[in-house]
Amino acid sequence: MEDLIPPPPEAWRRLCRIDEIPEDAARGFPPAAPGFAGLFAVRRGGEVHVYVNSCPHLGVSLEWTTDRFLSADRAHIVCGTHGATFRIADGVCLRGPCYGAALTPVLIEINDGTIRVPADSGRRPAG
Ligand code: FES
Repeated sequence: MEDLIPPPPEAWRRLCRIDEIPEDAARGFPPAAPGFAGLFAVRRGGEVHVYVNSCPHLGVSLEWTTDRFLSADRAHIVCGTHGATFRIADGVCLRGPCYGAALTPVLIEINDGTIRVPADSGRRPAG
């Protein structure tokens, strides 16, 4: 995984408060603007992991219904379209049509219980 370089302070946007994501659960966030993909966050073991909501297989959103990104046992992220299974900690695909590929991680900053992400998180490549 490539290193994530923190953006300057003015280039962050608020995602949500950490207590708005239940422990061992996920929450989706709509695209920030046209030309952006949505994001989703998973809270587990006291940590929060945020990814771009775009499956490496076909580029579609992963959830099969609102905020449902996890397997039944909540151990993995699962794509609702073809069932690819991803490790929560790093987004690597462990099983499915995009085996070995990974979700795009999003850098986060947590301050006073509020999660912020770089303002350009989820921006789709031009073209
Ligand atoms: S679109 Fe996600 S596994 Fe096919």
